[in-house]
Amino acid sequence: MEAITGTDVSFASSLLSEGKLVAIPTETVYGLAGNAFNKDAVVAIFEAKNRPRFNPLIIHTHSLEKVKQYVKELPDAALKLAEKHWPGPLTLLLPKHDRIPDLVTAGSPRVAIRIPNHPLSLAVLEKCDFPVAAPSANPFGYISPTTSEHVFQQLGTKIPYILNGGPCQVGIESTIIGFDEDRPRIYRLGGMALSEIEDLVGTVLPPITSKEDLPQTSGRLKSHYAPGTPLVLGNIEQLLEETNSKQVGVLAFQHAYSSDKIAKQIVLSPNGKISEAAKNLFAGMRKLDEMRLEIIFAELLPESGLGIAINDRLLRAQALNKDPNQ
Ligand code: TXA
Ligand code: MG
Repeated sequence: MEAITGTDVSFASSLLSEGKLVAIPTETVYGLAGNAFNKDAVVAIFEAKNRPRFNPLIIHTHSLEKVKQYVKELPDAALKLAEKHWPGPLTLLLPKHDRIPDLVTAGSPRVAIRIPNHPLSLAVLEKCDFPVAAPSANPFGYISPTTSEHVFQQLGTKIPYILNGGPCQVGIESTIIGFDEDRPRIYRLGGMALSEIEDLVGTVLPPITSKEDLPQTSGRLKSHYAPGTPLVLGNIEQLLEETNSKQVGVLAFQHAYSSDKIAKQIVLSPNGKISEAAKNLFAGMRKLDEMRLEIIFAELLPESGLGIAINDRLLRAQALNKDPNQ
């Protein structure tokens, strides 16, 4: 089987109804979608991604009305966030309704749910009378796809259809927020800046760091998002000076570096715009990784707004290369 890439919303939704998998565009990253009520479809998602079954899936739907059918309760803070920021790059972790299968949440009583902001996928979701489970459409542990080509490269032989919605506008995965009673807690930094959430519902509690809780959210595994080529973070100028390699890839934020050791350089945002850097981040990492260079040097962004989430992804990309056993 080789995936067809196209923009046929009806075809995509009928495949989903039949229990088949479809890659769908969202504003954050592409998702590998399947009918969350269909056990075979959910199992097929885990298999196509080679993802461990203990790692739960986010479900997607198109309206708050639908969301209410899939959760048991919606704390006030969650409702406020939903009304203001959906559709958008925000996932809420809520007590699941019994109709959401345990397989989807990996046995957890909570389900991660969001309304993505992409016209094609919203049109597909509107046609589906079931929740759509969709983890990022990449093999487990690899960089999330932000174009239909990225999906095709890695899952092109495993799924029948890729809905092509162009490059993702946000470029990093959704921010995940859970609730302790009514108090919001961060589970994954992402495409919605924490400040936008705090403006609405007050201080967000820090992540829970107890060991038992960690594997639940793969975005929090230390080595997630990693490319295959070693990636080192730091002062790029200094790293270039110190290295003996002549095959260096550079992932720079705003300014290009010059050195004859650089084989390929990507500047994420020549205007210094953090949102543009987020949009270009994963494609840049992929591009450099594909070139099979000896090493990639990258630099952290200013720690504000989306810069915090970008730095989180860069640190995880570095972690794998430092210690492959992580
Ligand atoms: O932006 C996004 O969120 C994208 C697009 C496609 O919507 N999806 C995405 O899914 O990033 P995924 O599966 O790659 O990452 C979802 C994260 C995982 O780390 C998973 O462990 C966590 O959410 N998660 C899902 N359901 C959960 C649950 N019930 N409890 C705790 N964590 C959960
Ligand atoms: Mg993922």
